[in-house]
Formats: sequence, structure tokens, C-alpha cells
Amino acid sequence: MISPLCPICGAPLTTEKPAWKCENRHSFDVARQGYVNLLPVTQKHSLHPGDSSVMVAARRDFLNAGYYAPIAEKLCDLLARYAPNAESILDAGCGEGYYLSHLDAKERWGIDISKDAVRYAAVREKNAKFLAATAVHLPFPDAAFDCVLSMFALTAETEFARVLRNSGIFVQVLAGETHLSALKSIIYPTLLEKEKTLHPQLEGFALLHEETLAFDFTLETQGMVQNLLYMTPHAWRISKDGAEALAQMSRLSDRAEVVFNVYGRQER
Ligand SMILES: C[S@@+](CC[C@H](N)C(=O)[O-])C[C@H]1O[C@@H](n2cnc3c(N)ncnc32)[C@H](O)[C@@H]1O
Ligand SMILES: [Zn+2]
Repeated sequence: MISPLCPICGAPLTTEKPAWKCENRHSFDVARQGYVNLLPVTQKHSLHPGDSSVMVAARRDFLNAGYYAPIAEKLCDLLARYAPNAESILDAGCGEGYYLSHLDAKERWGIDISKDAVRYAAVREKNAKFLAATAVHLPFPDAAFDCVLSMFALTAETEFARVLRNSGIFVQVLAGETHLSALKSIIYPTLLEKEKTLHPQLEGFALLHEETLAFDFTLETQGMVQNLLYMTPHAWRISKDGAEALAQMSRLSDRAEVVFNVYGRQER
């Protein structure tokens, strides 16, 4: 059993209800939905960091409709190939737990800086553990996990390397250059994308496998077009004109282009 660490003093936490506690009497309530908030005020950069409840609900509804099922399938295939015996998986920036709910392991942990995200995740998936925490200060001991995932979320390579055991794997999933180009052409008609590093070199890791998955999908309702917008980072940056144009659309065909990078944790 992985024992999470107190985010204030670093001592192990006992994980009983109604509150997780360390030997220095720091205490963290288990919420009604089952998640635990381990995000101390000093690690928050705002009152409600991360994705808002509107964004999380949009992502849940979009993902539940199955549009990104090919991504979940590819993830399962890669784990079966590169970490067939993984007993412990951490999804860092897990959102509302869609991908973790497709995976099988003795211990599944999801962390996200958004309390709304882990609240939804805990409701979705009762057999995994969800924490509000930041990926840049993971509340776990060294070498605790067999596998770490970052699905469209940040890569905190130093922390991921620390919590992975030797030869554990890190699966990084990124939006490719042309990911959601139809959506982007509506919301930024004139903007040129900056170039992205799609297969970054990460300290302490070797890149074992890279693969790009592309597939088309069509959204048939105005609500679903809005869900797609609100689950992406474009929602933070959309212009007034772009928002108005998109609000008129009740159908959108687009193409997902998703990069999978599988890294192996090198021996310490
Ligand atoms: C684009 S969403 C992806 C969510 C989920 N992995 C998915 O693909 O459905 C990025 C997520 O990263 C979270 N996030 C942002 N900064 C974070 C941090 N420092 N630590 C942990 N999560 C963070 C956001 O709250 C959001 O849920
Ligand atoms: Zn403590």
C-alpha cells in the first residue's frame, strides 16, 4: 500500500476516515465524495486553481459521450505492452478521472490541482483514490509507483522521476500540431500556432516509444460543441468574436491528433 505524505511536514499520513493525519497532528478531511484535499494554501496560486467546475463538467460530458475512446484504448494497449505488471498507477492532472477509470491496477491514484476535478473523479470511480494536490509537489514517497501518466496535463519531470521506481514508465500524452484544427480555426482565425516540442528529452528518462494517433469525429449538437471548447485550454484564450461564432454552431467535424510518448525511468 502506498502511504501518502503530509503536504506540510512530509511525514506519512494514516488514511482512515473521517480525516487523514500525520504524527505532527496535521489533518485533512475525507470529503463526502471520497477525495482528500492535500493542497496547502502555500501551494495554491489562486483561490480555485486549475480547471473550473464548468470546464470539468464539460470534459466529463464530452468524454462520457465516447469521442475520445480511441485515446483510452491506445493508452490501455501501451500499458499492456510497456507495464503489463504495473500494480500502482498515478495519473497526474487526472481531471475528472476518465482515463484512470479505464485502467486496471491494484492501486490507482489520481491527483489534480482542481478540487472540482477530483470531486467529479471520486464520484465516477469509487475504487481509485483522488487527491487535490499539485504535480510539482507530489505527496508520495520516492519510488512509490510503477507507472505515472500525464494526459494533456503538465509534465513535472523531476517529481515524476522521484516517485517512479527504477524502470517504471511515464506515459506522456500531448496534443499534436494539428489537434482540433477545425475548432482552432474558428476561435483564432488569424493566429499562427507556435511550434511545440512533441517528444521532449526528460532528465532521468529514456524515450522508449513514440506514436501519433489521429482520428475524425463529428459533434452533432450545440451543447457538445461548447463542451469541446470548455474542456480545452482554448476556453481560457477565446476572443469575443470566436466565442460568438462558436455559439452559433450545432455541428462540428474535427480531427484529433494525439502524441503518445512512453518513457522508461532510468536506474538511479
Ligand atoms: C487539459 S486538462 C486534462 C485533464 C485529464 N487528464 C484529461 O485528459 O481528461 C489539464 C488538467 O491539469 C490540471 N492541472 C493544472 N495545473 C496542475 C498542477 N500544477 N498539478 C496538477 N494538476 C494540474 C487542471 O486542473 C486540469 O484538470
Ligand atoms: Zn504533517
